[in-house]
Amino acid sequence: MYEDFRAFIEQHRDTQYALHQQYLNPAFVKMLKTIGFDKNYVRGEGCYLWDPQGNRYLDLLTGWGVFMLGRNHPKVRGVLHQMLDANSPNLVRMDCSILSGLVAKTLVSHLPEGLSRVFFTNSGTESVETALKFARCTTAREKIIYCQDAFHGLTTGALAVNGAAFFRERFGALLPGTQPIPFNDLPALEKALAGHDVAAFIVEPIQGKTCRVVHDGYLAEAQRLCRQAGALLIIDEVQSGFGRTGRWFCFQHWPDVEPDVVCVAKGLSGGFVPVGAVITRPRIMDSVFDSMERCVVHSNTFGQNDLAMAAALASLQVIEEDRLVENAHELGQYAMSRLAEIGRTCPFVTEVRGQGLMFGIDFARPTNSLKLRLAWDALHQLNFGVFGQMIVVPLLNQHRILTQVAGYHTEVIKFLPPLIVTREDLDWFLRAMESVLADAQRVPGAAWNTVMDLAKNVMRAGA
Ligand SMILES: Cc1ncc(COP(=O)(O)O)c(C=O)c1O
Repeated sequence: MYEDFRAFIEQHRDTQYALHQQYLNPAFVKMLKTIGFDKNYVRGEGCYLWDPQGNRYLDLLTGWGVFMLGRNHPKVRGVLHQMLDANSPNLVRMDCSILSGLVAKTLVSHLPEGLSRVFFTNSGTESVETALKFARCTTAREKIIYCQDAFHGLTTGALAVNGAAFFRERFGALLPGTQPIPFNDLPALEKALAGHDVAAFIVEPIQGKTCRVVHDGYLAEAQRLCRQAGALLIIDEVQSGFGRTGRWFCFQHWPDVEPDVVCVAKGLSGGFVPVGAVITRPRIMDSVFDSMERCVVHSNTFGQNDLAMAAALASLQVIEEDRLVENAHELGQYAMSRLAEIGRTCPFVTEVRGQGLMFGIDFARPTNSLKLRLAWDALHQLNFGVFGQMIVVPLLNQHRILTQVAGYHTEVIKFLPPLIVTREDLDWFLRAMESVLADAQRVPGAAWNTVMDLAKNVMRAGA
């Protein structure tokens, strides 16, 4: 048996990329090595990661948004240790767990009154699947409206409401009756709802792939249109929930918004245990589970497991006690306004946008510099999506800041700092951005040489 499990991991540390190359996803390993992201991190704590040489990195990717409390938060870890030692009657299934009851009560306390029932899932995409099924069951309709550029997960139901062709291609026919409309377009929504045959409209209050935020008044009007047409409003807060945007839930930035279904996941367990939830109205839950016979007609094996629930209770308490929602609001404003100032000095930057600690920088072909426009065109002829690497790669390799482009075929780089981030950490990031954006304007220059080589390598590899 693994007497010293940590020593066992250390013994095998050097084999991680080879193991992934052989047994997991070689294309992913190739991508990491091509852009120099194969850092072999050995430790994660708070806002930081460390490599084997002891270098400290600022993590603004936070595991795609799960480490809202930073990595390995001591209070959550403490609760998990207690839970592991408790010999708890976990997952009895034919019983009701105290822990999930307590998490449900806490979740509901942060939401409008009508949203008082919870279904626990194991991921964001499962929350979305659940929401789609609940909407279809409640309304006895099939059609789902979603937004262009939306991201709601990658299982087949969630994929059917994904707003990017790239993710859907080559996976065959998906859920029937889904229809995209442009984001932030109320007339398009009204038109899509006109037949009174729509089960639900699903929307992210801030799009993960573009960092575009819903306009003021959009959600309240979308809700009115949905109600008028007998459709449900599903708000996907998988990425934007739990304080990330400076409110407990992003839709709470606007008055009078009371969705029918809210999907959450990511930060709920502080990144320790996979977990998600759907919070909805009693009438919707009751229409699905409307008899003893149907009381588990929608269910999952690992839902409500004790470790996930204990981590969720602890994480929700940390968010509240450490005033992380307020921190996200305050430091999000600081970071975004400073980044916008820095962005104004770079002709490639069109916009800095987002909400709280979920924000992005958008790049486009420059209009006011012929030299930079020619460089942009040359690069885009080689490869459409590689420009962002000119920012992301030096951020990591020169400034030790971990980020990623927001999505395939976008020119947006998104930043998801942990909610415990400090002003000093953000200053580290802002100084780095200043330097990286200045380098991007030097044509010819080292940054352009690197990214052109990268584009050529990608083309040669046929990737
Ligand atoms: C808004 C939104 N919904 C759903 C998902 C899917 O979540 P998961 O990756 O946990 O399945 C994501 C993931 O990034 C997301 O951002």
